[in-house]
Amino acid sequence: MDALIIEGPSKLSGKVDISGSKNSALPLLFASILFDEKVTYENIPRLWDIETTLQLLEVMGCDTEWDKEKGRVSILPQISKKVAPYEQVKKMRAGILALGPLIAKYGDAKVSLPGGCAIGARPVNYHIEALRRLGVTVEVEEGYIHASVKNKLVGAEILFPEVTVTGTENLLYAGVMAEGTTILQNAACEPEVVALGEFLKSCGAKISGLGTHTITIQGSPLKIPETPVRIPADRIEAGTWVSIALATRSPLELNHCDASQMTSVLAAFRQMGAKIEELNQGTTLKVIPADKYLPLHIETAPYPGFPTDMQAQILTLLCLAEGRSTIVESIFENRFMHVAELQRLGAKIEVNGNVATVEGPVGFQGAPIMATDLRASACLVLAGLISKGTTRVSRIYHLDRGYQRLDEKLRRLGAKITRVAE
Ligand code: EPU
Repeated sequence: MDALIIEGPSKLSGKVDISGSKNSALPLLFASILFDEKVTYENIPRLWDIETTLQLLEVMGCDTEWDKEKGRVSILPQISKKVAPYEQVKKMRAGILALGPLIAKYGDAKVSLPGGCAIGARPVNYHIEALRRLGVTVEVEEGYIHASVKNKLVGAEILFPEVTVTGTENLLYAGVMAEGTTILQNAACEPEVVALGEFLKSCGAKISGLGTHTITIQGSPLKIPETPVRIPADRIEAGTWVSIALATRSPLELNHCDASQMTSVLAAFRQMGAKIEELNQGTTLKVIPADKYLPLHIETAPYPGFPTDMQAQILTLLCLAEGRSTIVESIFENRFMHVAELQRLGAKIEVNGNVATVEGPVGFQGAPIMATDLRASACLVLAGLISKGTTRVSRIYHLDRGYQRLDEKLRRLGAKITRVAE
């Protein structure tokens, strides 16, 4: 496993290209299972989670090609084994996204249960219950979900007890292949769900209500996409870069963004005192830091609320704000693992249940710290950039799962950051 060594504090300058979205690429890649012919993708980010997804598809019998320089992937979906093994799913919980397309296309699937992870238990009971409503028989045995359907999937009305992003995605795959109408109530509105739905629509699916909490799907045959599927910009990577610019007090220009998907995040940064200009129809963000930042109260929520995937990064930034901030983590029960590491650098944060209280401003002092999950890793790199002296961030495996070459991008902008093998 690699570690990053950062000499801080860092002053950065220049332009950053935002990569394709991880959480959009994964469901779109799994959608290839629904077809018989080759599907091609562009703007695929260079991430471990993409590697794991392609491995999973290969295990199932698909032929995959990935031109990493051009960001192009093509998948010939020749499914011979309708199985998503533990070996891959344990590395990436999004392996559960194999369940929907396999059951939709082949009426048969064996998918490893993802298990818990650093940020919480993360069960998949809502996916399973919803598929049962469409006529799927599901047994859970020896750590695997065994799903099968006798004849065809039959449309039904489903009410998700909580908003679930990958749950909604699994039901989109199933709904488009089911007979009749499927209505998803309390569906996720995340842009990644909309991107998957729009892609399926471009292939002939009849879906309405994307981007709202009620999605209606009319089962209909799909045809192969005529043009390569383009992965949209990563709104969480872009938000992470805004927090890097603000914390290091470095004006940065971010290109290939989609500001329309970042409303709540940009509003929070602006409330703290940052100036963020949206140029070129929101595809470019010019971030202008402030000398002083104001404290905030933030509650994470499903889209369009403040994303849980930006909580760790803004929490780190709030350590620089003048006064007391509070963050309520409403989505995952254990997503403050980064706090103990930030405290090692000097942060004054108290956690009570799902509420973190941050006192600022503090100056960070470099120390060895350990990454626990993907977004926590990003916040620890951010913390290292603003710490005086040397910070060693260990176990950055998680970072490479979801950020395209963050250390290389930072080095190009002037950060003193090196990667070492541990
Ligand atoms: N939940 C259940 N049962 C289920 C499904 C969800 O109890 O069957 C609970 C979860 O435990 C959680 C809440 O419902 O408390 C919401 O979870 P959701 O299902 O929406 O999460 P997910 O689909 O597993 C996706 C992203 C996460 C992101 C969350 C929330 C992908 C591949 N992953 O996860 O991204 O945090 O939505 O927005 O899209 C990340 O990129 O770092 C990441 C963790």
